[in-house]
Amino acid sequence: MKIAVGITGASGAIYGIRLLEELKALEAETHLVISPWGEYTITEETGRTVEEVKGLASYWYGEKDMAASLSSGSFPLDAMVIAPCSMKTLAGIASGFTEDLIIRSADVCLKERRKLILLARESPLSLIHLENMLTATRAGAVIMLPVPAFYTKPASIEDMVNQTVWRIIDHLGLPAKNLKRWES
Ligand SMILES: Cc1cc2nc3c(=O)[nH]c(=O)nc-3n(C[C@H](O)[C@H](O)[C@H](O)COP(=O)(O)O)c2cc1C
Repeated sequence: MKIAVGITGASGAIYGIRLLEELKALEAETHLVISPWGEYTITEETGRTVEEVKGLASYWYGEKDMAASLSSGSFPLDAMVIAPCSMKTLAGIASGFTEDLIIRSADVCLKERRKLILLARESPLSLIHLENMLTATRAGAVIMLPVPAFYTKPASIEDMVNQTVWRIIDHLGLPAKNLKRWES
């Protein structure tokens, strides 16, 4: 599978990093774009370097590289995940204002009817955020939120992050063998 991964400047860069690690383990081909504020949060929140994170992807592109393959619907991408997705990037997707490669790639996924998962992170949510989520959902995107499922009895932040990442993997149709599913 060819999967685009966007990391934007919302809190939770660890979600994008763990997703890249899981996709690498599954031998998926990943195409990574990190926004400048995504680079900031990677450094600030995780202590990882941006170069380390780029090294987890099969390919990476500059945020302003609108000539990258991801920019075209003719590139045979299977899906895109933006994790975490800021409210600014969500707004760009909802309005079709494709000012950078992350938003353009998401826009291409919607027009080509490909899976687009947005791990949106903000709290509390304004009317504008909620309307943008509704617009993106109506256009075909899947809005996921990085909220823990307490029935899995997470013992650490790592457990919570992993469960969310495995839910994304599951949504992509890839094997999520570690995902804890509710069983009554
Ligand atoms: C430490 C830090 C945490 C942030 N957390 C969020 C957040 O959770 N959600 C959000 O929408 N924006 C957040 N922001 C603001 C975004 O980084 C900012 O709106 C930026 O312009 C987003 O651009 P991008 O989507 O191109 O990365 C945060 C900024 C910083 C510096």
